[in-house]
Amino acid sequence: MSVNSVARVIPAWVMYILLVIPGAALFWSVLQTPGPNPVETLEHGLGEFALRILILGLLITPLRDLFGWNLIKFRRSIGLMAFFYVLAHLLVYLLLDKQLEWDPIIKDITKRPYIIVGVVSFLILLPLAITSNNLSIRKLGPVVWRRLHIGVYAACILGAAHFVLLKKTWQFEPLLYLGIFVVLVGYRGLKRVQRARA
Ligand code: HEM
Repeated sequence: MSVNSVARVIPAWVMYILLVIPGAALFWSVLQTPGPNPVETLEHGLGEFALRILILGLLITPLRDLFGWNLIKFRRSIGLMAFFYVLAHLLVYLLLDKQLEWDPIIKDITKRPYIIVGVVSFLILLPLAITSNNLSIRKLGPVVWRRLHIGVYAACILGAAHFVLLKKTWQFEPLLYLGIFVVLVGYRGLKRVQRARA
């Protein structure tokens, strides 16, 4: 059985269920064994899941080009689930970490470079998530819609840069995420240049 024949029979909504599982498992494990800093565990876990799901979304095109796998129908659910994790990460920060104390939140948003970068990434992803439906595609038209959604590449790089910057020293894991995004975004960029030249 080929990947394409399996993908053809799986409805796109199944991806929502599959991708909600790691988040639900994280919440469950934190409830069962909170550890010394449950809020941090949630905040970090949700942030990392967001990056991993963004990578999954960016892999769809290279997988089609390299192996002929057609997974395009899962792109919307993957993108929306990545946003869902970013939103959950933000809510944990606002509600549990900062407990809606606006002075430290405003201080973070204006003074801490890694938070500023994270907020910019979120603000880019927000309109993409809001317009990820058929009605918006129809209203905006496919050309404007596609142009708007190019923003996802910047959001991915900024999301990974946010992770790199929050560490005080250069660390392997955040740099690995950043490297993966640079390669995947670079691949899309090269394809665009090639298409423009052809
Ligand atoms: C709305 C804006 C955002 C805020 C306020 C925010 C806030 C935070 C905070 C407070 C931390 C923990 C820092 C620490 O340990 O001292 C963090 C970590 C992290 N965030 Fe964000 N974030 C935002 C957006 C994002 C976005 C858009 C992504 C990914 C696409 C992301 C991914 C991560 C990751 C991967 C970590 C580190 C996880 C780890 O250490 O394992 N964040 N963020």
